[in-house]
Amino acid sequence: MEAARRIAELTRELNEHAYRYYVLDDPLISDGEYDRLFQELLKLEEAYPNLAAADSPTRRVGGAPLDKFAQVEHRLPMLSLENGFSDQDLRGFSLRLERFLNEPVTTGFSAEPKLDGLAVELVYQQGRLSTGSTRGDGLVGEDISAQLQTVKAIPLSLLQDAAELLEVRGEVYMEKQGFAELNNGQVARGLPPFANPRNAAAGSLRQLDPSVTAQRPLKFFAYGVGDLQATPCSRQSELLDYLRTIGFPTCPHNAFCRDIDAVINHYNRLASMRHDLPYEIDGMVVKVDELQLQGRLGVKSRAPRWAIARKFPATQGTTILRGVDFQVGRTGAITPVALLDPVNLDGATVSRATLHNQDEIARKDLRIGDAVLVQRAGDVIPEVVKPIVDKRAGTETPIILPTRCPACDSELVKPEDEAVTRCPNMQCPAQLLRGLVHYCSKAGLDIEGLGKRNVEQLFEEGIVREIGDLYTMDREAVKNLEGWGDKSADKVLAAIEQARTPPLADFIAALGIRFIGENSAALLESHFGSLEKIAAADAEELLEIDGIGDQAARSLVDYFSNERVAAMLDRLRRSGVSPVTAHKAAGDLVLSGATLVFTGSLSKLSRDEAKKLVKDHGGTIASSVTQKVTHVVAGEKAGSKLSKAREAGKTILTEEEFLDLIAG
Ligand code: IVH
Repeated sequence: MEAARRIAELTRELNEHAYRYYVLDDPLISDGEYDRLFQELLKLEEAYPNLAAADSPTRRVGGAPLDKFAQVEHRLPMLSLENGFSDQDLRGFSLRLERFLNEPVTTGFSAEPKLDGLAVELVYQQGRLSTGSTRGDGLVGEDISAQLQTVKAIPLSLLQDAAELLEVRGEVYMEKQGFAELNNGQVARGLPPFANPRNAAAGSLRQLDPSVTAQRPLKFFAYGVGDLQATPCSRQSELLDYLRTIGFPTCPHNAFCRDIDAVINHYNRLASMRHDLPYEIDGMVVKVDELQLQGRLGVKSRAPRWAIARKFPATQGTTILRGVDFQVGRTGAITPVALLDPVNLDGATVSRATLHNQDEIARKDLRIGDAVLVQRAGDVIPEVVKPIVDKRAGTETPIILPTRCPACDSELVKPEDEAVTRCPNMQCPAQLLRGLVHYCSKAGLDIEGLGKRNVEQLFEEGIVREIGDLYTMDREAVKNLEGWGDKSADKVLAAIEQARTPPLADFIAALGIRFIGENSAALLESHFGSLEKIAAADAEELLEIDGIGDQAARSLVDYFSNERVAAMLDRLRRSGVSPVTAHKAAGDLVLSGATLVFTGSLSKLSRDEAKKLVKDHGGTIASSVTQKVTHVVAGEKAGSKLSKAREAGKTILTEEEFLDLIAG
């Protein structure tokens, strides 16, 4: 029958496309095309419910809610791992293996990121997913088959013939971005946000209603099987490859390591990339690669002798909130900063952490004296996640928000529609200092030798109070500062000399005008071509520029109509500061009016170089494929951005084509 044939065909095709997307990260069709096929299948299945296949992707929407979770016994226990915290512990592990086996391990190790999600077991019978469960206590877990079925990266049927019974084990996790989006949605709907991606993944899987799970951005990596006899593999590294060929995503950062030195190297690699990965990992799992050796080594109590987890130093910890400092930012924004009892996070001692803004303090209901959870992620400033309410003694006191600026005593203002309270005084010393630091920083003119510390010193010594002072600094005074001397004074003065003729866009960005970053500054330069024209532009003219919105336009007009700003710019001009335009006038450059997104890895250019090239040729950079985007440059392993771009009909360029384009 025609319908039966088409249903079978669509089921097979859609499952194949899901594999290409989730496992190979190499989709053949766009998301839109996938949806079209999916809808076609859905319609046919509605008309012929009996013909729907057991592994139809339409089952992923989630079935009826459960009353409670049933228990499932794991046929073989799901073991836990011994933890190690140093290189020494890894060498100790290798020595213990050698002692136990009476010979060193010469066949290597599999070193795998320790994924920070939830361990699950997926049982496939005759190639079909039959049961999925949590790890539980290792012996008995909860039946979450209906929930796991909604996770698109988990195949409902195996792609290749495999054993009658196969127990695939792995981690369900949530990517950092999906987690952030989920939390935004939670907060917007007045629901409590999740503390971290692992909790969000666990909470999503333990939903009695699988249709809720289906809405959550869950992912999966396989890393093992229950009964090894069910596979044709003789090594863990082979097993990982095998799992991929039968339909499971595996972590791309798994590595085969010949010896323990290589294992330690891989650990260091993972530790340095951990914050750049799209998902959280909390260490590395090291496994003896040869399965036969694993068998000889066996299990002691609940953990195998053949594996160890090398944990990363903690990035979360608890400490006491002693007080709150209110800092004044460059544009006057008041940022509450938590003063904490020092706590070690990921090797660094943390005693201050951002509280973001006043609304956050209220939302988290923080009080002085609270035990608090703090976390540090990548270069991100440490933050206070939440108070540990259970530990409250009742003696905690509320945080009192200032009404006057802690630096200049001006009355603070808080626009209704903004989360931020600010100091309106442009001469506020705190703002001046921050502004100076910004002017000299990488985001500004990148003046060598004038990092934050040195600028603070010059400011505190009264040598530089505003930008104009930089250009009239007295060499003698600088040279005599503590920690300086002839050499450093000369170096800084030479760097300042260079900063007399900065590129116009850099200069605009360095001024630190609210809502005007690198991108807008470049747009202003290529549209107006001179500082005078930018300063004289009214809101209407500014709004003509694609990429300059209401807020930015208003901010520019406010800024340049301020008398003090005019006086400062005048002084700069008189001391010979004269921004230069590398750019031709608007519209003359190859990328004028274009907005580009880069995705995947580039082979010839670094991201920063690519960005600079775009800017230099009059274009703008965006980070995601929005309506404004005109071109997408796709490097190696481009992912979802590329498919999105295809779907939206954007111009797609290879790195070569991009280089050709700007070469004219
Ligand atoms: S193997 C004996 N491999 O770590 C083997 N576990 O204590 C035990 N985990 O919660 C598991 N990434 O979910 C293995 N590549 C990986 C892993 C991994 C994360 C988690 C696992 C479990 C814990 C084991």
